[in-house]
Amino acid sequence: MVCLGNICRSPLAEGIMHDKITKRGLPAEVDSAGTAAYHVGEPPDPRSREIAAKRGIDITHQRARKFEVADFDRFDKIYAMDKFNYSDIIHKARNENDKKKVEMIMATVHPTNTVDVPDPYYGGDRGFEKVYEMLDSSCEFIADMIEKKTS
Ligand code: 4NP
Repeated sequence: MVCLGNICRSPLAEGIMHDKITKRGLPAEVDSAGTAAYHVGEPPDPRSREIAAKRGIDITHQRARKFEVADFDRFDKIYAMDKFNYSDIIHKARNENDKKKVEMIMATVHPTNTVDVPDPYYGGDRGFEKVYEMLDSSCEFIADMIEKKTS
């Protein structure tokens, strides 16, 4: 799960996906990272921590890190939150196989539309609600896909 700062959107995506993996007993791992290094080592933004906690998901242990080329080897799928993150990740790809792993996360729900998970950093709390709902729906699709592939 990749966004810009790895403190707002992708930590929520990691927490939501981890919750679905655990509850369904899926054979999968999830992690998150940012394309920028501004917040490396920091915990998730308090607004993300709060919205996750409201849904019973604890993301306080997460620490921001920067996306690295080695992530192409560690993961089968790399989900970008918006088209800027997508483009930054694609530029780091070494080959077609790396590129094939990268997808816009909302393409799971809207395959024909390029929908961004909006950056909520400079907005109010409502932005975080919307981000949570978008990520919950896309992570549900991803969990279904993993379940079909592995059952
Ligand atoms: P994120 O949000 O990419 O969802 O973690 C942001 C966090 C920090 C900044 C921008 C977006 N920033 O400019 O510091």
